[in-house]
Amino acid sequence: DHKPGPVGKGAAGDEYKKPQVVLVDGLLVMPGTLRHWEKIKSFQARPDDIFIASYPKSGLMWTTQVMNMIKLHGDVEAYKVDKTLIPFLEFCRPDEEPAVEKINNLPSPRVINIHAPISHISKSILENKCKVICILRNPKDVAVSFYHFHTFNNMLPNPGTWSEFLQNFMIGKVGFNSWFDHVKGWWSLREQPNIFFLFYEEMKKDLGYEAGRLASFLGHDLSPEAIKNLVKQLSFNAMKANMDEKFSNLSSPAGFTFKQFLRKGQVGDWKNHFTVAQNEVMDQLITDQLQGTSLDFCYEL
Ligand code: A3P
Repeated sequence: DHKPGPVGKGAAGDEYKKPQVVLVDGLLVMPGTLRHWEKIKSFQARPDDIFIASYPKSGLMWTTQVMNMIKLHGDVEAYKVDKTLIPFLEFCRPDEEPAVEKINNLPSPRVINIHAPISHISKSILENKCKVICILRNPKDVAVSFYHFHTFNNMLPNPGTWSEFLQNFMIGKVGFNSWFDHVKGWWSLREQPNIFFLFYEEMKKDLGYEAGRLASFLGHDLSPEAIKNLVKQLSFNAMKANMDEKFSNLSSPAGFTFKQFLRKGQVGDWKNHFTVAQNEVMDQLITDQLQGTSLDFCYEL
């Protein structure tokens, strides 16, 4: 189940075999996820679990750090030494037991990341009315970020050229399928009080305000001082400068550093990648797919 894909180039110019995404129950996943799919499928949520749901490259790492800062009431010194990593339900490193097994043994209340669309999540999440934080980002910047992520992440397939990748992204032939289905699925649940939305672009505009909203949703009250600390610690530049040292205990077969991962952190980098023609096709697709949903994205700040 781990057919090597084409040869890619690592960050240091080294060559390695890139995996292929594989289809299971109609969902494109990484080979490691497929290996433990039955366990992932039978995962049972507990009512006090909190889920962070996102399509890849929507700002998950950023949000997990906001969650950690909220938990620590904005205490900078405590945050600097905090090594909390929020586990990924669908993630399986080739050299470790699947994340789902670790998650099953975690004490409550648990915080869990999920990438699967609502069509593929455990029914227990919605039946138990678990809190779900959905992170959304405009699809043009997601496509660009996802493309670059494929180029420096050993555990993702070779993306091909930008134009090939964009084509696959638009038809949902990438890991976790279609961005459109993902966001429409979660957005359809927006009236439920346990489902909360964060937009990447709003976080870029006013991180303090969005963190305060998130804290209230989680039942915390952040002081103005705590918000000030959070905004300072979690700016793009601060995270880019500090994350490698903060998590120097981690080693990952994915083979990239946080400095690479924190690539640009902008709204509108798509303008440096899309041709006029590609942009027209994407705009039409967005119009067709999102019409009637009331979903609206910001494409530049
Ligand atoms: P870019 O590739 O556009 O730079 P995820 O964590 O869901 O994989 O999302 C990764 C994207 O979030 C990357 O986007 C990354 O740079 C961006 N990101 C991470 N931390 C950020 C921060 N503090 N401010 C702005 N963007 C951030």
